[in-house]
Amino acid sequence: MGSVNIEPLDKSFGAVVTGLRLTELTAAEFADLYRAWLEYALLIFPGQHLSDEQQRQFAGRFGSLVEGLEALEISNVLPSGELRSAVDDDTMKIIRGNMQWHQDNTYMPLQAKGAVFSAKVVPAERGDTAFADMRAAYDALDDETRVLVERLAARHSLAHSQRALNEETKGAGSEYMGYGLDVAESPLRPLVKVHPETGRKALAVGRHAYAVEGLGEAEAAKLLERLNDFAVHNEHWVYQHRWHAGDVVVWDNRCLMHRACDWDFGQKRVMLHSRIAGDPVSEAALVR
Ligand SMILES: [Fe+2]
Repeated sequence: MGSVNIEPLDKSFGAVVTGLRLTELTAAEFADLYRAWLEYALLIFPGQHLSDEQQRQFAGRFGSLVEGLEALEISNVLPSGELRSAVDDDTMKIIRGNMQWHQDNTYMPLQAKGAVFSAKVVPAERGDTAFADMRAAYDALDDETRVLVERLAARHSLAHSQRALNEETKGAGSEYMGYGLDVAESPLRPLVKVHPETGRKALAVGRHAYAVEGLGEAEAAKLLERLNDFAVHNEHWVYQHRWHAGDVVVWDNRCLMHRACDWDFGQKRVMLHSRIAGDPVSEAALVR
């Protein structure tokens, strides 16, 4: 990658990468890129304009993809081209839910490893995606909180987090595929996640965490709210990406949280998401 430029963001994580075509990376070039991904956790590639198939192939180099989410359009546009109803469309309820901080698939037996995400159609303003560095949040915990969270684990549930926002989906019978809503037992995950490749620890909370083993309901809710707020209170740990059509990002879901940002639902926003599957050795839930 002779002319490749990796420009770190003025944040605790993230870098903008230019001077390369994601469709044309040799194995050695990809290995360099992968190392940069582990270091920065978020790589941003402006102006790539990948086709669905090109994105699927690029994402597949990071690991196997989650079945059904290899190249999924996430948008407020129906297949017919009409805008979705902001009121009762299940996809819109999920999109609004994902405006809360979260990590993907923590509510599934396997948390996701990461995702490649790109913009096809962007609204004239807003509709950003924000990311938060949970390594930096962990590192900044006070000693008492660190000792506390090191020994705790929380249940995660998409159905629960949608219900908590009053954005319950209709499920069967709706056009929405219902991904993640039918998990029999909510996975239990430690509040501190050790990154399987870097060894760095990260706080692991987000909107899907709702119950902490060994704590009462109110106490758990209070602790999770405090940790969620703490994780994003420092702007050095948070980056909000303003999309231009053709931008591609790849994030590490093992150490970042993310959220969608609001926009005018009267304007089209069409994104393409490719979800990279977690490793069963390191991204499986605890068994109790
Ligand atoms: Fe997400």
